Amino acid sequence: MKVRALLLGLVAAGLTATAAAADPIVIKFSHVVAQDTPKGKAAEKFKELAEQYTAGAVKVEVYANSTLYKDKEEMEALQLGAVQMLAPSLAKFGPLGVREFEAFDLPYIFNGYDALHKVTKGAVGQQLLAKLEPRGIKGLAYWDNGFKSFSANTPITKPEDLRGKKMRIQSSKVLEEQMRQLRSLPQVMAFSEVYQALQTGVVDGTENPHSNLFTQKMHEVQKHMTLTDHGYLGYAVITNKKFWDGLPADIRAQLDKAMVEATDYANQIALDENDAALQAVRASGRTEIRALSDEERKAFVKALLPVHKKMESRVGAETIKAIYEATG
Ligand code: LMR
Repeated sequence: MKVRALLLGLVAAGLTATAAAADPIVIKFSHVVAQDTPKGKAAEKFKELAEQYTAGAVKVEVYANSTLYKDKEEMEALQLGAVQMLAPSLAKFGPLGVREFEAFDLPYIFNGYDALHKVTKGAVGQQLLAKLEPRGIKGLAYWDNGFKSFSANTPITKPEDLRGKKMRIQSSKVLEEQMRQLRSLPQVMAFSEVYQALQTGVVDGTENPHSNLFTQKMHEVQKHMTLTDHGYLGYAVITNKKFWDGLPADIRAQLDKAMVEATDYANQIALDENDAALQAVRASGRTEIRALSDEERKAFVKALLPVHKKMESRVGAETIKAIYEATG
């Protein structure tokens, strides 16, 4: 009898071990943009590498285009553990109580990707990610998208052209102030709702990196776009800290490796993806694309730079100073 019980016990233990091997750790990775964007492609790259490096012990399920959660809900879902990974825009951390990330939204704070990378690949970037930890969130990486252009249904060549227009923004107080500085009317709205809001006239215009504008078909409902490059849009890849810390150390090490490589990939493709999207918008013939002359650009810089000082109390004067110093 004892032998039989022992045998049954061994069989049960064997089954449990098999079940454990067959049951991968699932990482649900939710995001709001199309798959064919810098973030969408980088999420797929992370999935591919994570599954390869862990030999299938981890399964990454990527949910693109707000199919699982919209902007606000996805943050809540991460904190509740309903999803394990997100890559929200740096403009969307204010509602979590982490306001410093909104410094990335300050108009003209980065003169191109090189300057930006001095922050995201340096000490300042790491210090900012650490601010997420008290909220139960671990910041894993920064992924680039790109620099934004303004769009509307009327031409935009000077700051006054946006006066009185309802402009969709992400949920950032800095972006709100940016639009107020132009005397336009900022409207916070989830990304998934922007196309329809533009189509029905709920808002008149918006700002986007080209990959976002094109893949959401916003160019079909925006007659004019101006290459203002007035602000940056990029992402923090984040995970639920409890989930991450609870992973077996060897698995976590492989996921870290996959994340480093997916991040390099993301940051390598971002510029080309945005250039290709701009060409596609041009080829569509739906939107008239303007470049600014030096004089016109100066007028936008002059109109928008006061936002830095005004937002010191929101994002922290020391955060802005650290970015100025890092970008030299
Ligand atoms: C937006 O809401 O415009 C962006 O944050 C979307 C995204 O994730 O790039």
